[in-house]
Amino acid sequence: MLPALRLATPALRRHHALGGLRLLHLSAARSAGGGAHATFQAATLQKSLTTSPKPLKPKEDLVFGHTFSDHMLAVEWTTRDGWGRPQIKPYGPLQLDPSCSVFHYAFECFEGLKAYRDAAGKIRLFRPEMNMARMNDSASRLYLPQFDGAEAIECIKELLRVDQRWVPDGRGYSLYLRPTLIATENTLGVHRAHSALLYVIASPCGPYFPTGFKAISLYCDETNVRAWPGGVGNRKVGANYAPSIKPQAEAERKGYQQILWTIGEDHELMEVGTMNLFVYWRNEAGERELVTPPLDGTILPGVTRDSILELARSWDEVKVSERKVSMKQVAKASDEGRLLEIFGAGTACVVTPVRRVFYQGRDYDVPLDPANPESQAGPLAARVYETLQAIQYGDKPSKWSVVVD
Ligand code: COI
Repeated sequence: MLPALRLATPALRRHHALGGLRLLHLSAARSAGGGAHATFQAATLQKSLTTSPKPLKPKEDLVFGHTFSDHMLAVEWTTRDGWGRPQIKPYGPLQLDPSCSVFHYAFECFEGLKAYRDAAGKIRLFRPEMNMARMNDSASRLYLPQFDGAEAIECIKELLRVDQRWVPDGRGYSLYLRPTLIATENTLGVHRAHSALLYVIASPCGPYFPTGFKAISLYCDETNVRAWPGGVGNRKVGANYAPSIKPQAEAERKGYQQILWTIGEDHELMEVGTMNLFVYWRNEAGERELVTPPLDGTILPGVTRDSILELARSWDEVKVSERKVSMKQVAKASDEGRLLEIFGAGTACVVTPVRRVFYQGRDYDVPLDPANPESQAGPLAARVYETLQAIQYGDKPSKWSVVVD
């Protein structure tokens, strides 16, 4: 049975009405620990604001993840007391003991979502409930505390109200939000964390890649594997990212921009760099098909991935599949002229078209737009990108776009 305390929070009641995510959130709240506060509440948020706001950078000079807004959101948790009061305070260093478990055992998970400024100047979030649900899922795998996602969204909205001048305007620009949950216990013992900190920082950004919206090249890494059955590839944990840096650097040294992650003898496709992967081709049966690897536990359940699948299915023009596809099959399709497009998709990069893949000693060219030799994206990737942006920036009405009023 769900303790009455949790249903009593207004945000949880609101969420109750949302149907789809209800079960996830209720179970998240249920396992948050002890008789202590099983979630924090936006209504108890405290604010202490900076007295020295920083100057804004011209948006054209922004480099992804280099600039941070004036404030951050922080909430502490202990097994004894549960969640404390959320706080908005000046952005600044954390004071942590060197023995803190986050530094030793990768006791950390995070999220990435963006706030956009629409044509009327209002700030919008894109499907934030999915990020909160995924964060609870990641937290659960690390035995870190969970929380009511709707309460977290209310706190994030307040952070956005406080730091609203940091949300840049213009397509391609946004305020990237980085919710992060770390274990803060000062002990080297390998056991569950008894204290944790959830914080959210905000970073104004333009395109993720310095090259902007340009098609990229991929290096299919046959040695290193990003995730495996029974692992944590489907959780947004920091431990999935640090081991990718060296293979990525080696791919760059060979002249490619991102890694194509695969697994198994036939090199089943997994992800590309930090993105989910889509292949658009004429399959062996001659059908036009947009295909992405299934959520089998090794693939990150991306919000952009999910949105692209829903959009493409609603257009009802090509077959849309979540199924396993190998690089061997893609290479064959390329040789037979059946490969139409490849693109990556993620919050930070939105949609990133691919123009070339290195696999087993040779390059495979991936078509972009055959009608336009100058193009940087195939027609499907361009359509998906345009539609997502139209929704994110409020130009196309959608239930996915949440206004911060
Ligand atoms: C995102 O798309 O939000 C990501 O998580 C990529 C990030 C690691 C830069």
